[in-house]
Amino acid sequence: MRPSAPPRTYRVKSFGCQMNVYDGDRMAELLAEKGITPAPEGEEADLVVLNTCHIREKAAEKVYSDIGRLAKAGEARGRKPLIAVAGCVAQAEGEEIMARAPAVSMVVGPQAYHRLPAMIDRAVAGERATDTDMPPIAKFDALPARRTSPPAAFLTVQEGCDKFCTYCVVPYTRGAEISRPYRDLVAEAHKLVEAGAREITLLGQNVSAWSGEDARGHTVGLAGLIRDLAEIDGLARIRYTTSHPADMDDALIAAHGEIDKLMPFLHLPVQAGSDRVLKAMNRSHTAESYLKLLDRFRAARPDLALSGDFIVGFPGETDAEFEETLQLVGAVGYAQAFSFKYSPRPGTPAATMDGQVPREVMDERLQRLQAALNRDQLAFNHASVGRTCEVLVERKGKHPGQWLGKSPWLQSVWFEGEAAIGDLVQAELVEAGPNSLAGRLRTPATTAT
Ligand code: SAH
Ligand code: SF4
Ligand code: F3S
Repeated sequence: MRPSAPPRTYRVKSFGCQMNVYDGDRMAELLAEKGITPAPEGEEADLVVLNTCHIREKAAEKVYSDIGRLAKAGEARGRKPLIAVAGCVAQAEGEEIMARAPAVSMVVGPQAYHRLPAMIDRAVAGERATDTDMPPIAKFDALPARRTSPPAAFLTVQEGCDKFCTYCVVPYTRGAEISRPYRDLVAEAHKLVEAGAREITLLGQNVSAWSGEDARGHTVGLAGLIRDLAEIDGLARIRYTTSHPADMDDALIAAHGEIDKLMPFLHLPVQAGSDRVLKAMNRSHTAESYLKLLDRFRAARPDLALSGDFIVGFPGETDAEFEETLQLVGAVGYAQAFSFKYSPRPGTPAATMDGQVPREVMDERLQRLQAALNRDQLAFNHASVGRTCEVLVERKGKHPGQWLGKSPWLQSVWFEGEAAIGDLVQAELVEAGPNSLAGRLRTPATTAT
């Protein structure tokens, strides 16, 4: 590659899960420290970071079409951008990207992105570089302090996965389960609140597997961490995602009944309703053990809203087994959920299993499942009408005087009136749609701290 001028502007494009969004924000902060500024809306950036997701085929393919588009646009304006590919595709296919896409000058894995600034210097000098090392924790120590925060912030507390569900790439792209140290998390949470956060969502691929040593030297799990974070003045709400049914302990269930700041919402993926399919997926739960677990959570927090993830068309899934997924959905009554067609991922055991399900069958199953999930989501929203609840104001709405925020149950609520971003307001929920609710402001806003 030819040397190029140091980049003045950047754009970070994140795909995939919330952890990737968190990582994308951290990369943006690293670039800002280097004096590179965000590219103005509508303008091409000198440096583009594609922070990629490898979870399903479609997500991974996007990378190559994006690279092609960026290179073309660069040619047209006579100045090619520096392109860095980060995230899970970078980890899984680093060498292939370098070979297939000459326009890319940097490939950096999710555990190595703290070294991006140094890679940019090398790219400017005309070198191409790949860094897909997995040094645990190192990146967190190397990241700059958080100076600004949206009202609803994310905090990665745990990363990686040891569960090895047979369809999933995450254990390969994110590596083994690691927990960030307790004191680092408490310190980062304090900084976030000082920077404007009123809600913190604790993130991890298996967040409920987090453990650490608290200030008194006791080993604590996620519930212990949540309990201590709840002591932070100015922090009003705590959430966590994503959990695996295997790691949900008594303390975490109890925490839902005892800690007011822990929001009444639980995202607990089940994936399927058939025990045979669950076993083939290497999930450690059955449909029944999952339902029993939910009962215990609901006993601790009766108004708990539930969310889940589903895969249809896992290899060998029969019509009757798919019906069991629909039955489970009917039994739970999810407030929201994500559902996907099974996508064979290279290197995972399920990709070579017998009985791959034809696309049309998957399409039909997904349609039926989504119809059921949408029906339940709408029913949940309808059942909320008449409730008065706290709404955290996250942004302005489309029209002047209109605001958008989230209910405790993670529903989007819009309302009109006197408010500001970061306020916690009381609103009566007056009208429900499938994806949002209309609220009526009940109290003057409490000013953000
Ligand atoms: N760690 C989380 C989330 C993993 S990825 C968990 O265990 O729940 C998010 C979701 O993507 C998964 O829950 C699963 O429903 C879906 N997913 C993962 N691999 C997939 C694949 N190969 N095909 C289709 N969906 C997949
Ligand atoms: Fe993937 Fe399973 Fe780990 Fe979730 S628990 S990240 S689905 S391997
Ligand atoms: Fe995608 Fe990696 Fe997240 S594969 S879902 S970005 S952990």
